[in-house]
Amino acid sequence: MRSYDSVQHAKGESKFVDDIPIPEGTLFASVYYSPIAHGKIKKLNFSQALKAEGVISIISASDIPGENQIGGIILDEELFAKEGVHYVGQPIALVVAENKFTAINAVKEIEAQFEKLPTIFDPREAFEKGELIIPPKIFSLGNVNAEWHNCDYIIEGSVISGSQEHLYLETQGSLAFPVEGGGIKIISSTQGPTAVQKIASRVLNLPMNKIEVDVSRLGGGFGGKEDQATAWAVMAALAAVKLNRPVKIILQRQDDMRMTGKRHPYSSDYKIGLNKEGKILAYEVNYYQNAGASADLSTAILERTLFHSTNSYFIPNVKATAYCCRTNLPPFTAFRGFGGPQAMFVIESAIHKAAEVMNVEPTYIQTKNLLKDGDEFPFGQINKNSRAEKCFDEAVKRFEFEKKEKEVKKFNEANILVKKGIAAMPVCFGISFTSTFLNQASSLVHVYTDGSVRISTAAVEMGQGVNVKIVSIATRTLSINPDRIKIDTTNTSRIANTSPTAASKGADLNGFATRDACNLILERLKKLAAQILNAKDISQIELMDEIVYLNKVKTDLDWIKLINTAYMKRISLSAHAHHATPNIYFDRENMKGDAFAYHVFGTAIVEATVDCLVGTCSVDSVKVVHDFGKSLHPVTDKGQAEGGIVQGIGWMTLEEIIYDNEGKLLTDALSTYKVPDIQFAPAIIDVHFLEDVPNPYGPFQSKAIGEPPFMYGIGAFFAICNAMKAFRPHKSIQYNSPLTHEKVLLWLHSEK
Ligand code: MTE
Ligand code: HPA
Ligand code: MOS
Repeated sequence: MRSYDSVQHAKGESKFVDDIPIPEGTLFASVYYSPIAHGKIKKLNFSQALKAEGVISIISASDIPGENQIGGIILDEELFAKEGVHYVGQPIALVVAENKFTAINAVKEIEAQFEKLPTIFDPREAFEKGELIIPPKIFSLGNVNAEWHNCDYIIEGSVISGSQEHLYLETQGSLAFPVEGGGIKIISSTQGPTAVQKIASRVLNLPMNKIEVDVSRLGGGFGGKEDQATAWAVMAALAAVKLNRPVKIILQRQDDMRMTGKRHPYSSDYKIGLNKEGKILAYEVNYYQNAGASADLSTAILERTLFHSTNSYFIPNVKATAYCCRTNLPPFTAFRGFGGPQAMFVIESAIHKAAEVMNVEPTYIQTKNLLKDGDEFPFGQINKNSRAEKCFDEAVKRFEFEKKEKEVKKFNEANILVKKGIAAMPVCFGISFTSTFLNQASSLVHVYTDGSVRISTAAVEMGQGVNVKIVSIATRTLSINPDRIKIDTTNTSRIANTSPTAASKGADLNGFATRDACNLILERLKKLAAQILNAKDISQIELMDEIVYLNKVKTDLDWIKLINTAYMKRISLSAHAHHATPNIYFDRENMKGDAFAYHVFGTAIVEATVDCLVGTCSVDSVKVVHDFGKSLHPVTDKGQAEGGIVQGIGWMTLEEIIYDNEGKLLTDALSTYKVPDIQFAPAIIDVHFLEDVPNPYGPFQSKAIGEPPFMYGIGAFFAICNAMKAFRPHKSIQYNSPLTHEKVLLWLHSEK
């Protein structure tokens, strides 16, 4: 089955927010934002800007009919700064004009005066000054303090991981227009239609039933539109309501990069204790999360960091503490992995340091500690259906790890200026929203009298292929040709109270709901077929490839005839179903619970080459054995794995977000912010599907795929480090990411 909409995409016919034909009289808006990182607004003067021809209005905090509050989890974020500003890029006002360029130019005419206040950009400084958004969160298993004296080796260290720009191809944007009866329709590029609806309701002081949010598709989200698509949608809606005209906002790339939050940078301290055999006995870790100026999703992300503090390993004694530190940077937000990658980078750093100290290969420690069935996670869940060892062993065998290791050694002995490195990276990622209530979705299925089917769910298509998976599930459940099925836009009037499409749960949750809705219709149809064919029981009836079978024998009753008979007999051809993941919970009092429906496992073997004269490095190959369950759509899943891997390598080795001393983003364009391109991507990405691995907790035994492969990118960091060490074996490496070429060069040739 072809990927959904792929032909349309290839022809350039798919519509993103900026492509949607605009209603007559549409106005265009541009955001005026804070030029300073922290201060009081002393004066705002719009008069000059308002004089420009074509400027219709400038909207700010005082124009808000409801609450000036867009916080999702914690109410700490204004739509428009009223009295004070907390980061460079914080929205202060919205200029609305007859056309886009008039709006953009008029923004520059706004005069403002600020009284600057002290700033904090570093999470540890925020921690020391007591700037914590919530009290520290702690996960604890066993007793680390009682265990240190049993350890033969205790290694301590600090690790930094950097931020990352989402760089979705479609920048943030929205088109909102008033509808009759005082309502509003918002077309938004959001992963969370209900979040937009809810916050618009709060800001506009309108009931949710007067707000319709519609999402066709996203040109990428990667978490950046889980929470942070809301502000722009609500601004457009506010202006549309106030001016009673359609209003469109599409952020320019540079504005998007400056105003929106990115992956959370972390600074962490660890202490790891092992015995001589390489068994990890105790692990203590403190994470200082740079949350930015307001909470956004930081607290949930912080929690997921704790959930993944031990990655794919069983450690009997763990104490993991996480601090959510408020700084004067744009609120950092969800990004593929949702805090998991940051945690895994720390534990892998600890293991690689320990290997250095113990003079063993890191794989020696990794293999000794992989999760087995029955092992307890630090949050109390017991590991089951574990494929940690299976994936690791298979990767080592299939990709001849030991042979490759020897080849690398040989190569390094023979070459002075070019060095190679190899590393293994196991991943274990929990599948479910860690806020249990979010694990629900619904699906609405209509069958029309020509036999065609239209499906609405809560899932947002953002390039990850959730639509093709839903088609696959409906096709298999109804046993009809996929060409009969159309997936509708995601719309809050058709599907209410949606969770964001996130946590890699889109296909699982909406897939199950779609299966259930299809089954409701199928049951009615089978009952009818049983009547028509004089069967005693509907268990004698089967529908296969659009043909009805009675006791396994083909009849001349087909899908179209059956549908039409059902219609004539006034049987409903529509169904709605709701799905909630069973048996999961998380008790935040004790920080314990079966938080995840299941885990995704895999292992990557990464090889890299460093040119030690100039510091350039390349990731030569990433070879993976991954547990996809029974894939719903192998091409899509493979694409998700490959895309995630390259994005992960980018985070670890290439992409560097730099702010100046005043908190202004310096890397605010593609000339200064480098993402992996086809030249940089590994020449070989070989993704092997672990075989014969059904997953009873996913639709048709499938597994979620969106985020887990991202973390294979961490292997690239250590492969490069190993190549660097081959050049200077006696120099210690500080495991700070991103490991850019510049940092590689400095390390290779500096004294210290
Ligand atoms: N793939 C593409 N092409 N574009 C995206 O924006 N987002 C990722 C992942 N893969 C993303 C993507 C993230 S952060 C998540 S959580 C999942 O897709 C969400 O989709 P799913 O739940 O359907 O897997
Ligand atoms: N993952 C992604 N997004 C989320 C989560 C999560 O666990 N919780 C809330 N939003
Ligand atoms: Mo993905 S970070 O859960 O949108």
